[in-house]
Amino acid sequence: MATERSNEPIGVFDSGIGGLTVVAALQRLLPSENIFYLGDTARVPYGGKSRRTVERYSIEIGGLLLAERAKVIVVACNTASALAVPRMKEIFNVPVQGVVAPGAEAAAKSTRIGKVGVVGTRATISSGAYEHAIQGINPGIEVLSAACPLLVPLIEEGMFDDEVTRTMLARYLGPMLGAGIDTLVLGCTHYPLLKKAIAEVAGPRVTLVDSAENCAHAVKLLLAESDLSAAPRRLGSLSVALTDATEGFLRVAAHALDLEIGDVALRSVQSEEKQGV
Ligand code: DGL
Repeated sequence: MATERSNEPIGVFDSGIGGLTVVAALQRLLPSENIFYLGDTARVPYGGKSRRTVERYSIEIGGLLLAERAKVIVVACNTASALAVPRMKEIFNVPVQGVVAPGAEAAAKSTRIGKVGVVGTRATISSGAYEHAIQGINPGIEVLSAACPLLVPLIEEGMFDDEVTRTMLARYLGPMLGAGIDTLVLGCTHYPLLKKAIAEVAGPRVTLVDSAENCAHAVKLLLAESDLSAAPRRLGSLSVALTDATEGFLRVAAHALDLEIGDVALRSVQSEEKQGV
């Protein structure tokens, strides 16, 4: 049943443009929904920052999404999901959906031998959020994690199909592949842009779990449960705003993901000086 709020947008954010992989998955699954995407390009990357800082940024961005009348907030960033979702759920009066829980569920379902690899930013991996979530579902699953700090910059440079990227992937994934994982969680929303290269390095025996894809399924369920699904048979829109005018990679990613991005708006966020950090 559609309610008054149903046609308001799904608010989606990431530290930058990696969360566009979640937008692409949402558009495929929920074509009637309006989406407002906010990329915190002024402060990207979040992946090397502390919990306190990532929480502060995420809460500020959540407030900007509510100002756009977002009916739900989708945290399309594994780092913010790992570090800030619990606090956001306490603060905001709309449902908040992160990417970690759906990715962990999909990984626990996918593994046949109980050995899962997780790759992500330093902050996501050192938070232990995936181990905690996967072993919360099945304590018998062994989780092998690797922080891959160079992948986000390589992706942001558009180096999807490049020898340097393949070399780094082989180095990062080597130990967990050697240990015999059968499932690999792409625990950063940038990584689906490297899916082809990751699949080549991981080989056919390893199933890739795309946190963007699984998050979109969780959002669909959440909207249905909260009576917030948009009326069917309408074509949803996509609006994009950034906190700094760094449109270069936005266009590359939009092209790679086949997204139509119109005018990009700007939103300002607190500078570090004002925070006294
Ligand atoms: N896309 C973010 C994530 O999913 C990573 C980018 C960053 O370090 O800010 O973790």
